[in-house]
Amino acid sequence: MLTEFDEWGVDERQYWLRGVEPEKAVAYDAETRMWHVYGHPENVQLLSKPKVFSSNLQRVMGAEIGGDNPEETYDELLYMDPPDHTRLRKLVSHAFTAKVVADLEPKIAALTNELLDEVKSSDRLELVGELAYPLPVTVICELLGIPAGDRDLFRKQAESLMPSTSDDVQLVGRFEGQEEVTKTVIQRHREFAEYLQQFIDDRRKKPREDLLSGLVHAEVDGERLTGKEVASLVDTLLLAGHLNTTMMLSNTILCLDAHPEEFRRTREDRSRLPGVVEESLRYLPPFSVTSRVTAAETELGGETIPADQLVMVWMATANRDPRVFDAPAEFRPERHPNPHLTFSRGIHFCVGAGLGRLEGRVALNTLLDRFPHLATIPDEPPRFIRTDQMFNAHTLPLAVST
Ligand code: HEM
Repeated sequence: MLTEFDEWGVDERQYWLRGVEPEKAVAYDAETRMWHVYGHPENVQLLSKPKVFSSNLQRVMGAEIGGDNPEETYDELLYMDPPDHTRLRKLVSHAFTAKVVADLEPKIAALTNELLDEVKSSDRLELVGELAYPLPVTVICELLGIPAGDRDLFRKQAESLMPSTSDDVQLVGRFEGQEEVTKTVIQRHREFAEYLQQFIDDRRKKPREDLLSGLVHAEVDGERLTGKEVASLVDTLLLAGHLNTTMMLSNTILCLDAHPEEFRRTREDRSRLPGVVEESLRYLPPFSVTSRVTAAETELGGETIPADQLVMVWMATANRDPRVFDAPAEFRPERHPNPHLTFSRGIHFCVGAGLGRLEGRVALNTLLDRFPHLATIPDEPPRFIRTDQMFNAHTLPLAVST
């Protein structure tokens, strides 16, 4: 089955866009020596068992990335298991209360308008560069208290962590032969931590009203976070907080552009916007997959998975599981409930889901207010960064009228 995105040469291996259903909900791929979990209930089950399905990828990657050396480890929230994860997560969750997020709404609307005011052309908008990238990165920088002026640096950092082709990292079992790639990733993390240290030192001396000061001075179970822990948390928030949202904004526009009738109805009735954002997250999730490692032998979807296996958690495929979603290949913003897995589930459920959804709603509303016409340009198609893990428009030129 062809999809509306095929004409843009979307990677063939992004099969979930092509309506190809996996044969089994849980499958082992002998070539890559990985387990792939495609089914929705199976992924929900997996994500609710962090003791068995660990996020500490070092269990299988350790040997390749110098796992015996604690300086060379992935000590990020995303890759932690309880109890370390519980401790840090508690702290971050305090910063992302529903109120903190809701209070950001006027700021997000003002920033969106400022960015659109800067657009030079009156009939063309390059959505990614002119709005979808700078908006979330500025919001997260403002929240943290880090200069948004350095955003190009963050983008370079974020994109350097993404494999530029699907062969780079993820599809190779146990990451064999990927030593160099992984080392580069760790080196970039280290450089980024060095950049952040100046701000951490500053807030230790002079706390301000920002999230960074909060993290530097926060106590969890009577203990302060170390500089390394703060740097790693900020790094995660910056990276997790902007690239995903950038992709969500451009993917939502792509979904609307491909469904003109829905676009028209949403323009006329803005109460449809939250449903549009939610359905775009299901239909075209920014990241297709996350991963876990089995800490013990376990059963899932009728299969026995041994210990120390790399397990790919295909959120994008689960989002199209016909056992859970009616007509999963159709874009239906009125879907309710819409239990997509794009923000994951369980203890690692996205901390910024509320903020991401708010940014989506506010930015799209502003775009629709300002541009009575907004459409892709047939002669100037979007350019995608192609990997199996994500659906990322690098540029998305739009014809607009004001
Ligand atoms: C639409 C936008 C977003 C999407 C699709 C998204 C997706 C995700 C997913 C799938 C995970 C969990 C991965 C796993 O279980 O392995 C996650 C975790 C996380 N996200 Fe988001 N995210 C978005 C926006 C944000 C924003 C705006 C922030 C922060 C400001 C943020 C911060 C985080 C953090 C800190 C984690 C780690 C949570 C943990 O490990 O406990 N995300 N996100």
